[in-house]
Amino acid sequence: MDKIIITGKSELFGSIDVSGSKNAALPILASSILTEEDLIVSNLPLLDDIRNMKKLLLEYGVSIIKKNEQTIFNSKELLNIEADYDIVRKMRASILILGPLLSRLKRAKISLPGGCAIGTRPIDFHLHGLSRLGAKFTIENGFVKAEAPNGLIGNNINLPFPSVGATENILMSAVLAKGETIINNAAKEPEIIDLAKCLKSMGSKIAGEGTEKIKINGVKKLTKAYHKIMSDRIVAGTYVIAAMILNKEFIINNVDPSYLTSLICLLKSMGGNIEINGDSIIIKPSLQLKGAKIETAPYPGFPTDLQAQVMTLMSVVNGNSEIKENIFENRFMHVSELNRLGASIKVKKDTAYIKGNREFKGAQVMASDLRASVSLVLAALSAKGKTVINRVYHLDRGYEKIEKTLGNQGPNIKREKK
Ligand code: UD1
Repeated sequence: MDKIIITGKSELFGSIDVSGSKNAALPILASSILTEEDLIVSNLPLLDDIRNMKKLLLEYGVSIIKKNEQTIFNSKELLNIEADYDIVRKMRASILILGPLLSRLKRAKISLPGGCAIGTRPIDFHLHGLSRLGAKFTIENGFVKAEAPNGLIGNNINLPFPSVGATENILMSAVLAKGETIINNAAKEPEIIDLAKCLKSMGSKIAGEGTEKIKINGVKKLTKAYHKIMSDRIVAGTYVIAAMILNKEFIINNVDPSYLTSLICLLKSMGGNIEINGDSIIIKPSLQLKGAKIETAPYPGFPTDLQAQVMTLMSVVNGNSEIKENIFENRFMHVSELNRLGASIKVKKDTAYIKGNREFKGAQVMASDLRASVSLVLAALSAKGKTVINRVYHLDRGYEKIEKTLGNQGPNIKREKK
């Protein structure tokens, strides 16, 4: 498996352009199943999760043609109702094809998904929502079998928690269901808004996306559409934090700063010198940063996907910090590896207690999940000496060629291929 080798302490200068959002792209690609006509997508990030989603769609018979910056998905001929376990096990987002398949074919079979090992991550909210639309499920030998012989029928759905994936699955199923569907306690993440925007360009009738109540009026069929994927707010936030850790002037372009309000507020409260200029975030050196106390929450709260990166920052600022993780029950796997690099972090139940004023020193570490991996990259950038990050495949799921993106801006970062 590939390794990333970083020799610190790093320089950082210039700017980067943020690529398309992985988490927005995944459901949008799944939604190509909903129409027999072309769905043309641009700004797709070059990531393993996207490659896997394309492989999965190919298995079902979707045709995928790349033309310059655009990728054309066509689902006129759906050949299969079942996908190879090997693809699904790599990516939890595979579950997002369940709703679109049910909608188009009235049946689907999909193995229970894999992905990051950050908790049990069940799919009960997805199944609850889809069964309210009339689907019947059986779970056997690690597979979910779904059927809706009479088609899906609109209904009121109350989500017990504003799950991002469940909201997306239900939304994609409801656009072709008969009548009206209301999703109460829906997730409000910007990626839901991007999905709704794409579905609306295909002819769907949706209102309230981005709020806790989404209303969908089913239509008979969806048509050809073009959609540009929104930029990745988590990647943008990660590079904002990198610049703060290295205390350098750095510019992040092609980002919607309003989607990062909770992060920017936190960083400013820690003493960060951050300016917004249109779709750019400008980070300038700060005199002294101090610790803070935060908890993760569904959007617009502080994103769990930036928790590990902020923890790295909190290790090098003045004073102590606390992070309470409210979304996933097992999302502190980076703590032991950060401690190997010189951090002093203790975890009690769902809260991490972080001692500040630490200096990172290079070591061998192991990447455990996507955002954990990048928190180690951030620590290594500011560490004295050489850090070797093993098992970087998680990193490649969410960050486009990080050794190139960062390597062009100062850091001594390279990949050793195995
Ligand atoms: C999405 C994001 C992920 C992010 C997460 C929370 C994608 C591809 N992934 O993941 O990067 O960290 O939102 O912002 O967009 N849950 C259940 N039952 C369910 C579904 C979820 O108990 O049926 C629980 C999960 O275990 C978790 C919580 O709800 O504890 C939130 O999960 P959810 O919002 O669904 O996250 P994902 O859509 O998997």
